[in-house]
Amino acid sequence: MTWIYVLFCVLFCGSTTGFLLDTITGHLPHQVCYGDLGCFSNGIPFLSTHRPLSVVPASPDTIGTRFLLYTRATPTITSEEQLDPKNDLSISRSHFDGQLATKIIVHGFTHDGHKMWVQNMTRELLVLDAFNVIVVDWHAGAVLPYEQATANTRVVGAQLAQLINTLIARAGTSAGKFHIIGHSLGAHIAGYAGERITHLGRISGLDPASPYFEDTDIKVRLDPSDADFVDVMHTDAGGVKNIGFGATHPLGHVDFYPNGGERQPGCAADAVDKLGATSWAALSTFFNVYAAEEALACSHERSYYYFTESINSQCPFTAWKCATLGEFDQGHCVKCTDDSCARMGYHADPSKGLRGNFYLNTESTDSFCQYTYQVNISSLNNFDGILYMTLEGTNATIGPTALMKNNLVHLGKDTLALRYHSRVNVGSPTHLTLRYEKITTPFISSSYPDDWHLLGVTLWQADESRKYSFCNTYHAEIDNHNSTTFSVRGVTC
Ligand SMILES: *[C@@H]1O[C@H](CO)[C@@H](O)[C@H](O)[C@H]1NC(C)=O
Ligand SMILES: *[C@@H]1O[C@H](CO)[C@@H](O)[C@H](O)[C@H]1NC(C)=O
Ligand SMILES: *[C@@H]1O[C@H](CO)[C@@H](O)[C@H](O)[C@H]1NC(C)=O
Ligand SMILES: *[C@@H]1O[C@H](CO)[C@@H](O)[C@H](O)[C@H]1NC(C)=O
Repeated sequence: MTWIYVLFCVLFCGSTTGFLLDTITGHLPHQVCYGDLGCFSNGIPFLSTHRPLSVVPASPDTIGTRFLLYTRATPTITSEEQLDPKNDLSISRSHFDGQLATKIIVHGFTHDGHKMWVQNMTRELLVLDAFNVIVVDWHAGAVLPYEQATANTRVVGAQLAQLINTLIARAGTSAGKFHIIGHSLGAHIAGYAGERITHLGRISGLDPASPYFEDTDIKVRLDPSDADFVDVMHTDAGGVKNIGFGATHPLGHVDFYPNGGERQPGCAADAVDKLGATSWAALSTFFNVYAAEEALACSHERSYYYFTESINSQCPFTAWKCATLGEFDQGHCVKCTDDSCARMGYHADPSKGLRGNFYLNTESTDSFCQYTYQVNISSLNNFDGILYMTLEGTNATIGPTALMKNNLVHLGKDTLALRYHSRVNVGSPTHLTLRYEKITTPFISSSYPDDWHLLGVTLWQADESRKYSFCNTYHAEIDNHNSTTFSVRGVTC
């Protein structure tokens, strides 16, 4: 898909020969040196088939990176303080406290350090605990053209590493206390910073940018060697049909793929929808599509909504390790043994030694987190209809909700494993009610009996890894259009 954009640029951006000439000479391998930040070459590995237009980063003066500090004493943009790695007084006179853990937020393409999502994440972090929160604002470097912004991330990463190393040297803190949270291009900035710091604590990559990074050398992109723990959320992974801004392939120790990782519920369906929402003129300004974020990059932006919600939510954003999305969707992986489940977002636990790809589903609107239940049902007879479930627990009741979307013929000999999600946590389940609605499809349904004979039901409360069975389910008969309630198996049955 990178090539599609390159083609656009050649066709539209390069409409004047002068521009084209600049473009070509700008991409010839050379290097620039920026004092103690070091030298940056646009040659291999930064030049590759995955990054055909490779330029050198702009100067620190052009990018104008600022480090904005927020603490519980100075929590808002009106009270923010600015840290400068080259000015010790800016650190010693600030509210930075070396005893506390430090959270660093880095924005991506076209954004800036005062974006509402950055302020929201800062606020939630400071609600959770007394942290130093540092926001990296590099907005003057995060502008069009995209190829220049991708190059600039290297300088911003080097500057961030310089700040962290200065804080370690001057403010009595240590590398393990730093956690960088980067969205899109910001995730790769976190990677470049981590590369220059020994044992950086953690990097959370929120839908790391894909164009110019996917499948590149680990020196070019975020990878697990950049910090002691790298957790990555994929919310807008690109497929062939889908113009995705986020990376598809795993980049961390743990990679989370909410809703499969390609498209988030409540966001536009595919490339056609996305392009329909903008004009072809916008496309000519190469990647301007990114800027129209809420409409076009909805799935891409979801990653920071999920992360921000996860900070103080009671709901755990439980995700399960699975070999493939397909297996997860078939209900095979929702077990928690050892390290086979994890919390997505802020509370992903570095100490569990988590590795691999994890899957979960979310709601389509805020609040996004949901609890997962799976019911396994076996029946005596074949049936053609829809089952509705109501689950009552000590805390709440959910349902009735259809357990299947369409009526399909279910064979009595097969166990149905049906996944069910809810924003609400029922607490400890007490009763389960099942209603049966036979579908009166002409010809087909007449060959099945009207009533449904149940053999057994088990409920798997997947977030808590608890299994429940119910009294009197063996050979229970549920009449068409009627329901039966079963109580949880306990001491009385
Ligand atoms: C920020 O938080 C406010 C208040 O909770 C919310 O209404 C708004 O949608 C959030 N915006 C973003 C971009 O997260
Ligand atoms: C439900 O069925 C699935 C798929 O057959 C199986 O993997 C899972 O272990 C079953 N769960 C329970 C709680 O029996
Ligand atoms: C029930 O709800 C209360 C209040 O919302 C919560 O504190 C508690 O953890 C919940 N219990 C369970 C078992 O979910
Ligand atoms: C529904 O089921 C209950 C319990 O099995 C039974 O008492 C009741 O008569 C049934 N109602 C109808 C309309 O079939």
